[in-house]
Amino acid sequence: MDTERLLHELSDFLRIPSVSTSTSHNADCRAAAEWVASELRRLGCREVQFLASGTHPVVWGVGPDVPGAPTLLIYGHYDVQPPEPLDQWTTPPFDPAVRDGQLFARGAADDKGQVFCLLKAIEAGGRPPINFRFLIEGEEEYGSRVLFELLRREPERTRADVVLIADMAYVAPRWPAVYTTLRGLCYAEIAVRTARTDLHSGEFGGAAPNAHEELARLLGRLKTSDGKIHIPGFYAPVKRPSKRELATWKRLPFKESDFLKHRVQAKALTGLKDHSVLERLWALPTFEIHGIMGGFTGDGAKTVIPAEATAKVSLRLVPDQKLKTVERQLTAAVKRLAPKYVQASVKFLHGADPATVEVTHPAFGLLDQAFREVVGRGTVPARAGGSIPVVPALGKGGAPVILTGIGLPDDRLHAPNEKLDLKQLWDGIKVFRRFYELLREKGVEGNRRGES
Ligand code: BES
Ligand code: MN
Ligand code: MN
Repeated sequence: MDTERLLHELSDFLRIPSVSTSTSHNADCRAAAEWVASELRRLGCREVQFLASGTHPVVWGVGPDVPGAPTLLIYGHYDVQPPEPLDQWTTPPFDPAVRDGQLFARGAADDKGQVFCLLKAIEAGGRPPINFRFLIEGEEEYGSRVLFELLRREPERTRADVVLIADMAYVAPRWPAVYTTLRGLCYAEIAVRTARTDLHSGEFGGAAPNAHEELARLLGRLKTSDGKIHIPGFYAPVKRPSKRELATWKRLPFKESDFLKHRVQAKALTGLKDHSVLERLWALPTFEIHGIMGGFTGDGAKTVIPAEATAKVSLRLVPDQKLKTVERQLTAAVKRLAPKYVQASVKFLHGADPATVEVTHPAFGLLDQAFREVVGRGTVPARAGGSIPVVPALGKGGAPVILTGIGLPDDRLHAPNEKLDLKQLWDGIKVFRRFYELLREKGVEGNRRGES
């Protein structure tokens, strides 16, 4: 493998600051889409198109025809999360750098490096061994609304024997995984207003309502210090994993004390104490506050009673919870918890339903074999705490959806110094190359529903 050339090519991709959530990067997102499109052309795709290009385009590709071979749909995303805080990066986020076998850059693991891995695995063997379809989007990091709409209008785009997504990690070094669930997400802003304008805290303090105080109290009631979320009806659909599943998690190389010490690096873990940490991360819903805006936060001091305050929050959802229901429940809970004299409102920014996938289709056996041959261990089933909004839509056509990845748990997704372990990448290229070959050799009884 010409690793030097590959590293060079991946670095070109990583150098494009395709931050999808900020309009100032629209041209960069377009450039990243162009980069993907030119790779697809290089692979000999007979169709490469930008779909829904009113926003960051979805790159659609159809590989060369391989008659009689199965069709694999590859999904991934070329957009990345904002790199801030910049001063915490050892080297700049869009200036890829290798240190100690690790490639540091925003998007190295999530998801550019992994999209790169799946594409180079095709190239690695000369002609593509099977039929490929590609959906590589640029809005995953803020909800995939456009792709979602597109797949609703054109469900035939997901027609394939197998869907493959590499946007996650091994559960531990040398422990590759396939994921059976993803959590959903409900992202919202909770705003409170207590008066027409800000007020002097000497003239009015002691008698006038304070928006920040009311917001703090409201948030403190929505989730209490025991980790419980107080939204009526919220937990009703939540099912505990079976005893068997919980037992398999106990056998994973995961230690709560190591997780605290090396990954979280805090003084204690929080949350629902009666559930294991993995259950809290994978199978229970969350409520997180991401930021609180309003009032006086400038230099120095200002004695003011703020009239408005807003919190950005999100709830992670687990299988059987529904985004639409949770939106209604959150709005109702906020209205109920706010005192009469407080004007409280909730605005929803984006979201995703949780996803569950079966891992019994023969294609999972082939991926397991590929990992076994290359890495020395097959895939363990696990659950994921994160979200990929379009996964339920990708599975609607009946094809099995394989959720896997070549990242490692310490890749620092969305955080400063995101990285990809290069050994993981080189192994990954071999693994997926082998997987594609196995798909051709062994075939799969895929679902061709809707094909004429
Ligand atoms: N690749 C992640 C999802 C992920 C992370 C899955 C870790 C499993 C483990 C994806 O790019 C992501 O960050 N998704 C967002 C979606 C949201 C913005 C709608 C997330 O989970 O916050
Ligand atoms: Mn991702
Ligand atoms: Mn992400």
